[in-house]
Amino acid sequence: MAEKKERLEKILSNLGYGARKDVAYWVRSGWVTVDGNMAKSASQKVLPSQLMLEGKPLDHANGLTLIYHKPLHAVCSRKEDGQLIYAAFPERWLARKPALSSVGRLDKETSGLLILTDDGQLNHQLTSPKHDISKTYAVTLAEALKGDEVVKLASGTLMLEADDRPCKAAELEVTGDNTANLTLYEGRYHQVRRMFAALGNHVSILERTHIGLLSLSSLQLKAGEYRTLEPELLLQMVVGE
Ligand code: URA
Repeated sequence: MAEKKERLEKILSNLGYGARKDVAYWVRSGWVTVDGNMAKSASQKVLPSQLMLEGKPLDHANGLTLIYHKPLHAVCSRKEDGQLIYAAFPERWLARKPALSSVGRLDKETSGLLILTDDGQLNHQLTSPKHDISKTYAVTLAEALKGDEVVKLASGTLMLEADDRPCKAAELEVTGDNTANLTLYEGRYHQVRRMFAALGNHVSILERTHIGLLSLSSLQLKAGEYRTLEPELLLQMVVGE
């Protein structure tokens, strides 16, 4: 993301460091430097990369994108009660503007690969149906597979309860009597669980293993761990360009 000059107080408050009145106090106290010199005023226009606070460069001053291994039971929401995914990140990140948000969601009982970003354009590129980015899930089912699932899921005619159009063709790779990898090219509410319900089965364990070409196993992230990275690199890992 190209750097833009902004008022110093705006940069620091949008990065979650504190309210503008706090920034004014830090400037008066000499804690903020611009190119190594004490900042003159909180309203001075500067580039984020010129700033330091208490001798330290600013935290992800030009945007925040991360890959997270969502653990079971964590909720992709800022508002609900209980264990929220956002509790895994530094508090300052949660006060940033624009806000850090997940690219799509995984439900509470689903673990696996989740991307979070404050970059609206990246979020759009990863979710827009135009880009057709696949998502793969490792599924464990309550009942053994019957044998007709691969064809039914690939047909592009499977209807889900309460939906008015069929699911796009999906790829099922059977890995055991009641285990399989399912690759989808769209994202609907509780889609994997509802697709297997439509086939008369029940998903008992669900993990997202891939987003496009990016695989959870290649990242060596334990459940609850995350890694920040540049949006351009992430996109390259997902779409391979
Ligand atoms: N499908 C589901 O059923 N749940 C998820 O979290 C993701 C896809």
